[in-house]
Amino acid sequence: MIPVCTLAELPPGESVRVLAPRPVAVFNADGELYAIDDTCSHQDAALSDGWLEGCLIECPLHAAMFDLRTGMPTGPPARRPVRTYPVVLVGDMIHVDTSVREPVA
Ligand code: FES
Repeated sequence: MIPVCTLAELPPGESVRVLAPRPVAVFNADGELYAIDDTCSHQDAALSDGWLEGCLIECPLHAAMFDLRTGMPTGPPARRPVRTYPVVLVGDMIHVDTSVREPVA
């Protein structure tokens, strides 16, 4: 598991980029923590730079939206999902488990 930051350092509505073996974006969506590949499946923009709206993240480059719970795009221009990863809270420290890749929906 890869340590990310403390819960206090990732307040609701915020995101952080983690350079795991591959870049991962961790989000606090209204108190729920999610981790997905940070690289948009359309043209490689960093999703951690996007706009969070509930459980959806909007890509900053061409505005594709992904569901943080599943990694699925909600529509074009992205057509392929991004991977999701388990987020584990150990005390107040957020960790991402990149060894367990959730199956792509
Ligand atoms: S790079 Fe994300 S929608 Fe184009």
